[in-house]
Amino acid sequence: MDVQSIKQRFGIIGNSVLLDRAIDIARQVASTDITVLVSGESGTGKEFFPKIIHQLSPRKHGPYIAVNCGAIPEGTIDSELFGHEKGSFTGAHEARKGYFEVVNGGTIFLDEVAELPLSTQVRLLRVLESGEFIRVGSSKVLKTNVRVVGATNIHIPDAISSGKFRQDLYYRLNTVPIFVPPLRERQEDIFLLFRKFASDAGEKYRMPAIQLTPDAQKILVSYRWPGNIRQLKNMTEQISIIEKNREINSETMVHYLPQLNVSDLPILYKGDDANKFTERELLYKVLFDMKKDVNDLKQLVMTLMQNDAPASSMHENQQIIKRLYQDEEQGTTPIHPIIIKPDDKTMDELIQEPEEIEESFSLQKKEIDYIRKALQKHDGKRKDAAKELGISERTLYRKIKEFNIE
Ligand SMILES: Nc1ncnc2c1ncn2[C@@H]1O[C@H](COP(=O)(O)OP(=O)(O)OP(=O)(O)O)[C@@H](O)[C@H]1O
Ligand SMILES: [Mg+2]
Repeated sequence: MDVQSIKQRFGIIGNSVLLDRAIDIARQVASTDITVLVSGESGTGKEFFPKIIHQLSPRKHGPYIAVNCGAIPEGTIDSELFGHEKGSFTGAHEARKGYFEVVNGGTIFLDEVAELPLSTQVRLLRVLESGEFIRVGSSKVLKTNVRVVGATNIHIPDAISSGKFRQDLYYRLNTVPIFVPPLRERQEDIFLLFRKFASDAGEKYRMPAIQLTPDAQKILVSYRWPGNIRQLKNMTEQISIIEKNREINSETMVHYLPQLNVSDLPILYKGDDANKFTERELLYKVLFDMKKDVNDLKQLVMTLMQNDAPASSMHENQQIIKRLYQDEEQGTTPIHPIIIKPDDKTMDELIQEPEEIEESFSLQKKEIDYIRKALQKHDGKRKDAAKELGISERTLYRKIKEFNIE
């Protein structure tokens, strides 16, 4: 069976080279008993692969079972997979066969295989290497003939580094790796998938299929789709149900893409002058925000330098601190690499750093300088000078006295 026929038979949409390559590997290994590990981000369509492998293998008339390793509680997973003897634990009233025994002659799909507890990983390695296993509460070694296909959406080498996954099992499982590409790496398939999901939804809810304006199509294709095909399918279904107008424009579309931000639209920033301008504007905004923060910080330092800060300026300071952090939390600046908060230190920690004492002299000089300039500019009018400096008139009065400013 060729790749196109497989896609047709299993309802797989898409023509990207990466997807075809993944299907082709499944097609080639199907006839063997080799263990396969399917990896790829969440929602990429990994679940098609164990089915393809089983259906195209000589085991196709044998049993097939899909086990979600992440959904079975740690306490019962050994018994689910390998069975148990009567009385082996509280509640084990009867002996029970596990999946590896039941599926003898067939295929087991171990979905979310990286979620297996370490003790179960030892048992799995043994059954993969020798076909041998032991029921929980027994000492009798049993044999089975099962083909295993695993799937994971996490990067297993990371799980190995953090001690959550056995390296030997990874090598054994990953004999033939199949990588299912994320949707953003098969952009040519996005519109095809949308059309299919839109027509399915139209049929299901007995409504005309939704259509996209050219602008909405552009957004659809350039969005990063962090939830991949599952997200595209759900979104298409949602729009199909909710929107009365069957022609969807970009504004409507954006409402259904909640994480839509700069980093989710990588393609829009490629070689398009109009969009480059937007990017420049965003950078200006970052700079303006930073300038505003620096001014706020200046004001904060000035008021903190007064030893006897009155309650009113304490309140002012709190407002400034709140503003500085609020801006950041609310993400008014949509460009992530620029982080204004230094080393995650709190304002108190920053203020108490020892260098502050040495620097305070030059800061003090500067402060006096600023106050003088402001007073000169406003012909000695304290009210206007205080406004210019961003401090209260009372604070300015105290400073003039404290520093003996003419
Ligand atoms: N190429 C495709 N054509 C049509 N439907 C697809 C395709 N790929 C995925 N789907 C659909 O997308 C949904 C998600 O796919 P699937 O359940 O296989 O994801 P997954 O990779 O197992 O994700 P997870 O790691 O979160 O379990 C399913 O409804 C599936 O039918
Ligand atoms: Mg899955």
